[in-house]
Amino acid sequence: MPTPARNVTVTGAGGQIGYALLFRIASGQLLGPDVPITLRLLEIPQGLNAAEGAALELHDGAFPLLRSVEVTDDATRAFEGVNVALLVGSRPRGPGMERADLLEANGRIFGPQGRALNAGAADDVRVLVVGNPANTNALIAAAHAPDVPRERFTAMTRLDHNRGVAQLAAHLETPVSSVAGLTIWGNHSATQYPDVFHATVDGRPVNDLVDETWLTQTFIPRVANRGSEIIRVRGGSSVASAANAALDHVFDWVNGTGDAWTSAAVASDGSYGVPDGLVCSFPVRSVDGHWRIVQGLEIDSFSRARIDASVAELIDERDAVRTLGLVPQP
Ligand code: NAD
Ligand code: LMR
Repeated sequence: MPTPARNVTVTGAGGQIGYALLFRIASGQLLGPDVPITLRLLEIPQGLNAAEGAALELHDGAFPLLRSVEVTDDATRAFEGVNVALLVGSRPRGPGMERADLLEANGRIFGPQGRALNAGAADDVRVLVVGNPANTNALIAAAHAPDVPRERFTAMTRLDHNRGVAQLAAHLETPVSSVAGLTIWGNHSATQYPDVFHATVDGRPVNDLVDETWLTQTFIPRVANRGSEIIRVRGGSSVASAANAALDHVFDWVNGTGDAWTSAAVASDGSYGVPDGLVCSFPVRSVDGHWRIVQGLEIDSFSRARIDASVAELIDERDAVRTLGLVPQP
């Protein structure tokens, strides 16, 4: 029997990440090389021309897996029957801004989109929030979608994870494929904690291979501030690497990770002392189509302090969006 087409919606499809994503989705890199796709592109009116242009180019790509492309500025239409929703549409930060500076402007996008997902998404919908501040935007969207299990709302820290793997591999002069067991904890922000204490390179503990000064003074700040570094060097926020990480996140969520783990921001179930419901980055495996938080890792005081600092920032963001009325008060 032929594989049924899956409905994929990309918001902000006329923007930069949208343009870096769409053609790779159409070529099968989101769900797999045998899965047909119908694409819906959601934009605000000012972005419709750019999205229409991308749709014309998608047509010209003659992608065998691409069944149809529809452009709309109507969220209800965009999310009707959606299986995978990539919530990219929102403003990026510029030089001198922190991601939290986007909280109010971008946060207002995610309540209405959560409601539209609640109204029309397919039962198996998977949502990845890329637009910043991604963790708290996912919290807002989930709060407006009471009928969608909260585990379906995730936020992207896979870019941070990939950055950590790449930095470690470069420092140890080894291929990225030999690195395993790295974790990004907390918020997709400068407070995130890239944790190598359980990481290995070709099976050898990273702890035995790197010194503490490199870890604390180079690795952790470099990974945590890489978004700012990219903005400084290229004059705008990351695009192709962000699109690449979004594909990695959804591909693994749908197709599984096996024993390896990766990092994703998912609704906390209280694991590792993170308050229930916060959308926090954890070590995760994808099993049978569900993200499962890796349990039982030992957390020493060095790691605990850093995890707690990033979680405190997530709590502050949650309280701020409660005060702004973007999520209901408890
Ligand atoms: P961009 O400005 O190029 O594109 C954003 C697009 O979103 C625009 O076309 C805009 O018209 C559209 N948009 C705005 N509001 C919308 C709405 N309500 N519905 C639908 N579309 C809407 O920006 P970009 O470079 O593509 O970045 C998008 C977002 O992704 C930013 O918030 C950026 O900070 C974030 N980002 C996150 C990560 C991550 O790792 N989580 C990485 C890189 C970028
Ligand atoms: C990134 O990490 O590159 C993105 O979140 C963009 C940003 O604002 O840093």
